[in-house]
Amino acid sequence: MSVATSLTAQMQLGARFRAVRRRTLELCKPLTPEDMMVQSSPEASPAKWHLAHTAWFFESFILRAFAPGYRIFNADFPWLFNSYYRSFAAFPQKHLRASFSRPGLDEILCYRAHVDEGIERLLEGSPEPEALERIELGLNHEEQHQELLLTDILHAFFTNPLRPAYLPEIATTGAAGREEADPLRFVEVAGGLREIGHHGEGFCYDNERPRHRVWLEPYALAYRLVTNGEFAEFIADGGYRRPELWLSAGWDAVEENGWSAPLYWTGEGGDCSLFTLRGAQPLARMAAASVSHVSYFEADAYARWADKRLATEFEWEASAAGTAVEGNLLDSGRLVACPATKVVQGESPAQQFGDCWEWTASAYLGYPGFRPLAGALGEYNGKFMSGQMVLRGGSCVTPAAHIRGSYRNFFVPETRWQFSGIRLAE
Ligand SMILES: [Fe+2]
Repeated sequence: MSVATSLTAQMQLGARFRAVRRRTLELCKPLTPEDMMVQSSPEASPAKWHLAHTAWFFESFILRAFAPGYRIFNADFPWLFNSYYRSFAAFPQKHLRASFSRPGLDEILCYRAHVDEGIERLLEGSPEPEALERIELGLNHEEQHQELLLTDILHAFFTNPLRPAYLPEIATTGAAGREEADPLRFVEVAGGLREIGHHGEGFCYDNERPRHRVWLEPYALAYRLVTNGEFAEFIADGGYRRPELWLSAGWDAVEENGWSAPLYWTGEGGDCSLFTLRGAQPLARMAAASVSHVSYFEADAYARWADKRLATEFEWEASAAGTAVEGNLLDSGRLVACPATKVVQGESPAQQFGDCWEWTASAYLGYPGFRPLAGALGEYNGKFMSGQMVLRGGSCVTPAAHIRGSYRNFFVPETRWQFSGIRLAE
C-alpha cells in the first residue's frame, strides 16, 4: 500500500471512528441519567455501562498497547468495565452493573472524551497496521453495543410500570400501511457445493473464517419472516400448551417461565398489544409485521406446528450471497420490526437483512480450521462456542455498517430479549 493510500485509509478510519462514537451518544439522547442506570435482567446492562465499556475496549486493546505515553484515565476502570476477558483482568459480576452509581455519568463522558482524544492522536501519527485493525474491531464492538443498548432499554422500559416509550409512535405497519401480510411463498434454491464464510476485503470477526465448502441439498426459504398475525394463530391453536410441538428443553422453558406468547406481548385476544421502542402497539395494527422477541425454542416449535423447519445458517448464507445489505436496520430510524415490503424476485428472499435476527437450526461452532484472534481478544467470540444457536441477518436495531452475509450472531436458545424472529424453510 502506498503512503498516500494508507493515509487516505487512516483518514477514513478516523471519520468512521468519530461517526460511530457520536452515534452511541445520540442513542442516549432520549434517556434520562436515571434510565441509564437500569439493569432490568441479568443478561442486560445499563446504558451507562455500555458507554463506559465501549471506551474501555479502545483503552484496553488499542491505547495501552499502541499509544506511547497514553495515560490511563482511572486505575480502577481496566477491571471495573471489563466484561468477560479473563486473560486481561478480573471483572465484577455482570448482574451488579446497576450498582455502578459511581463513577457518575459526567465522569463516564469525560472517560469517553479522554479515550477519543487518545485515538485521534494515534491516528495523527503513523500507527502500526495492527493498531488500525484493532480500531476497526473496536468500532464493530461499539456497534454491537449500540444494538445492545437499545435492546436493553426496551427491556428496562417494559419492566417499568409506566411503560415509557423510547421514541414517539410512528406508522409501523410498513411503507404501504398494509395490515395484512402477503401469503407466504417459498423461494426454491438449487443447492450444491457452496462457499461459506467471509471473503474479500473489509472487516469480519474471527468466527466468520475460514471460508470453506458446504454441501447443500435443494431447499426452499420463506420469502419473508413469520408475522405477528401468523404467530397469533399458533397461540390460538394451543401452541404453548402442546408438548408434542416442542423440543424437550423448550417445553421445560415454557413450563419454568410460564411462556404463553412472545416477550413484550400483553393482554389477550382483541386486547393484545406489543411493547416496542415506540410504546405499546395493538396486535391488530402490528399483525403484518414480523414477530419478534421469540426464543429459539419458540421459533422451532412454530416451525414444527407449521409443518416446516428452520434453515441452517449455511442455507441462509448461500441465499444471502450477492444480496445487497438493505432493509429495516437501525439506519431506517424505525426501531420496530415491520412487514416485508419487497416482492420476491428469483432466489432473493425479502427481509434477509433487518427487521429481526433469524434463528437458524445451526449450533454455534467454529468453522473447520477456526483460529481465534491472538491474546485476550481471542476471548471475543471463540469461547462461547457451546450451547448457543446461530442467528443471521441483523434486526431493526442493527447498524447497517455492522451487518453482512457472513455475520454470525449467537445466543443461548432461551433468549427472548433480542430482536429475534422466524424464517421458515422446507
Ligand atoms: Fe463488549
